[in-house]
Amino acid sequence: MTGLNYSKARAIQQQNMDFGKNLLSCGFELALGSSDFDEERSRIRTEWEDIFTNTDMYNLKKDEIKIKFPKLGDGSFCSVFPVHVRNGKTKEFNENLPPFALKQVSMNITEGENERLLLVASTDLVHEAQLLRKLQHTNIIELIGTSDEVIDKGRFFVILEKLECTLESKVEKWAKIRGPFKQITPKSAVELRVSLVAIPIASGLEYLHSKSVMYRDLKPGNIGFDELGNIKIFDFGLAIEVPKGKRIKGAAGTLRYMAPEIRSKSVESYGFPVDVYSFAIMLWEIITSRLPFAKEIPASSFSEPKEIPDDKRPNLKYVESKTLAALLGACWSVNPDERWNFEKIILELQKYSAEFALVNGSKMKPPKMKPSSRRLSTSQHIR
Ligand SMILES: Nc1ncnc2c1ncn2[C@@H]1O[C@H](COP(=O)(O)OP(=O)(O)O)[C@@H](O)[C@H]1O
Ligand SMILES: [Mg+2]
Repeated sequence: MTGLNYSKARAIQQQNMDFGKNLLSCGFELALGSSDFDEERSRIRTEWEDIFTNTDMYNLKKDEIKIKFPKLGDGSFCSVFPVHVRNGKTKEFNENLPPFALKQVSMNITEGENERLLLVASTDLVHEAQLLRKLQHTNIIELIGTSDEVIDKGRFFVILEKLECTLESKVEKWAKIRGPFKQITPKSAVELRVSLVAIPIASGLEYLHSKSVMYRDLKPGNIGFDELGNIKIFDFGLAIEVPKGKRIKGAAGTLRYMAPEIRSKSVESYGFPVDVYSFAIMLWEIITSRLPFAKEIPASSFSEPKEIPDDKRPNLKYVESKTLAALLGACWSVNPDERWNFEKIILELQKYSAEFALVNGSKMKPPKMKPSSRRLSTSQHIR
């Protein structure tokens, strides 16, 4: 495998993506794939599997990884970099392979004086890795490996599959395409976003809830796209395992997407429907390419956010479809018991897609997305 072949194949794939964008003129980059690209992907997968077979992926030493620049992103306590992993057999780094993503505690914390913050940040990352190790689903970020260190001086790191962009950047792009004056997103664009974004996110959440994992921080900044355009829910920093029937306490999440029962001082504990509320707010954002509660919580402002009344919701006048408006209305109910579960949400979203196809004919249907080719078949990899 040469890097050159891969770059060429990627360039072709990129052209296909642009074609998808022009064809559907709604800012959706579709990975239509090409045989060159598929061939390269399969060779890459073989090389990755060789690394996983010959390397102790959950006991990685510092000299078994090579961190690259520029940084992929920063979180509240962490930094994320591209990274290559050494093949335990050849003892070499193949830098022609696409990198993974390394998440570690940010340097200003590891090198700072605040011991408590360092402990919190490191513990959170260990917790995230422990949780991710139990999960396997096409729409959940894949844990590739972890360091041998546990908490010592924040040296713990996790290695994840690398994402191309987040839903947050995608929504910004959609908003630009829509422009400031257009009120409503075209129906064809809404349908694509429902089938390629909303349904996969709901599938990931249905899986998480079936595994008793409450995610608690659903927002476009924590949803990513891989190279093929597949949706991946990542950032499990606030996710928590909750035994069936149990409720939990303690505010967690991002205010804009936070369910009223978490925000409200009068409610003592909450359950899985908090994720359904966040999903509904995010779905409104996906459909309309508008920021929810923009008046109460401006995008970039140093001023204190205003309080959001428990029954205040984004405006449904921007949502043309009655099916989608009804879904939003139910899923962002003030009463958590009235919110649907993800099984029902997926069924309704699929029904919406089917109705759309029926009215508009098959020519508007998007090409079928390929399943992530990166998901590995080897069971030893996910333990
Ligand atoms: N697997 C990944 N691939 C590429 N970029 C990533 C990946 N994971 C995280 N990032 C980038 O790093 C940022 C912070 O990561 P995140 O896991 O969301 O941390 P935090 O818990 O602090 O929000 C993300 O917003 C994203 O830009
Ligand atoms: Mg995050």
